[in-house]
Amino acid sequence: MGKVYVFDHPLIQHKLTFIRDKNTGTKEFRELVDEVATLMAFEITRDMPLEEVETETPVVTAKTKVLAGKKMAIVPILRAGLGMVDGMLKLIPAAKVAHIGLYRDPETLQPVEYYAKFPADIEERDFYVVDPMLATGGSAIEAINSLKKRGATSIKFMCLIAAPEGVEALQKAHPDVDIYIAAKDEKLNDHGYIVPGLGDAGDRLFGTK
Ligand code: URA
Repeated sequence: MGKVYVFDHPLIQHKLTFIRDKNTGTKEFRELVDEVATLMAFEITRDMPLEEVETETPVVTAKTKVLAGKKMAIVPILRAGLGMVDGMLKLIPAAKVAHIGLYRDPETLQPVEYYAKFPADIEERDFYVVDPMLATGGSAIEAINSLKKRGATSIKFMCLIAAPEGVEALQKAHPDVDIYIAAKDEKLNDHGYIVPGLGDAGDRLFGTK
């Protein structure tokens, strides 16, 4: 079963409160999501493997460390996932950025892929699928299906707020995928919103309705 990591760092929790606040406007909301994505990227990279190299400092030749693991790719689920990309790239500037666009079929209510673009070396990368909200889990599950279908073997999912229903569904569908979240909320309401949540993440990021 994939593990669930809740990042309770005080800075993340503090910023999340203002992200949730309905009086926070688009500009500030976007900035805060960006900042939290950077802080979460710091947390998820904590266990990245290192290897030893020799470096000539101005004083001596020293044994030092550089990153040794697989290369990364960030996969925002369109459109709200886009709000987390720049914040992550601040810490991991060499990461590739793939994209997955999904819409919900009005009849089957199932997510349908309408856009997908991935790096060529898909088997060699660690993929971080990102979306601010994990609600029913439908989009996350489908995005990960799409990555696996194309040969990805190392996939993690990161969001700001998760509903228990979404965490359970994602763990069941993809037991190999670890989940990184800033908060696990109470539930989904009848309209599919996370409670207490933050409203519609895409609309709040892009100022739409
Ligand atoms: N997507 C959102 O943007 N907000 C929710 O509460 C649930 C899904």
